[in-house]
Amino acid sequence: MDWNKIGVICAMDEERDEVMRHLENVRPVLQKAGLSIVEGNFGKISVYLVTAGIGKVNSAMCTQVMIDSLDPDILLNIGVAGALAPDLEQGDIIISEAAQEHDLDCSDLGDPKGVIPRMDTSIFPADQTLAQDALKACEQLGCHGRLGKVVSGDQFIANAEKKNMLVREFQGDCAEMEGAAMAHVCYLNQKPWLIIRSISDKADGEAELSYPEFKFLAARRAGELFACIMKNI
Ligand code: ADE
Repeated sequence: MDWNKIGVICAMDEERDEVMRHLENVRPVLQKAGLSIVEGNFGKISVYLVTAGIGKVNSAMCTQVMIDSLDPDILLNIGVAGALAPDLEQGDIIISEAAQEHDLDCSDLGDPKGVIPRMDTSIFPADQTLAQDALKACEQLGCHGRLGKVVSGDQFIANAEKKNMLVREFQGDCAEMEGAAMAHVCYLNQKPWLIIRSISDKADGEAELSYPEFKFLAARRAGELFACIMKNI
């Protein structure tokens, strides 16, 4: 696939900076709705990069701004996540196969949790061509990475009960707070997308302590993977 313009959305500056360090000639390209989007180059590819802020609304709004104003060929959401699957350790990578918003709940009206009423799907499929490229890049970097389901909600997950619910009811492999909102907006705009997340914590009772300690390492790993994917495409 020929990607010439890639949009990269991070929730936090710590994540954005780890992508930015792999770009050349970084310059401002758009200020809108509180967003400061920059453009940089990776070889011949233009990369639009931004810190969108934390949570689903910030992520959704930023995705639509990127699409309307800059029209990238594909959108990436890059950053850190809490592990839900037991095989994942800090620094490991999850590449989205699909994403779902886990905190949308109309179960009192009869819909299963996570189902968005009146939409034809609530489990959004990621671009599988780029997902395969990302898997290869993991192998090249020698890091443990695999495809998985990303579940997103406006909650930091830091207890075993909630974590187990996300595994049982959503089959989530990792939890974060933005990816599925980007996926949802991309789906509505028929834009391909991919989430790449590196594990900072295990979304359990120790997450409050391990997250601040490991988020920098995890963000660096995610940035390295981004660079490796870009080299290959
Ligand atoms: N991002 C990183 N760790 C997370 C967690 N445990 N819950 C939600 N978002 C996260």
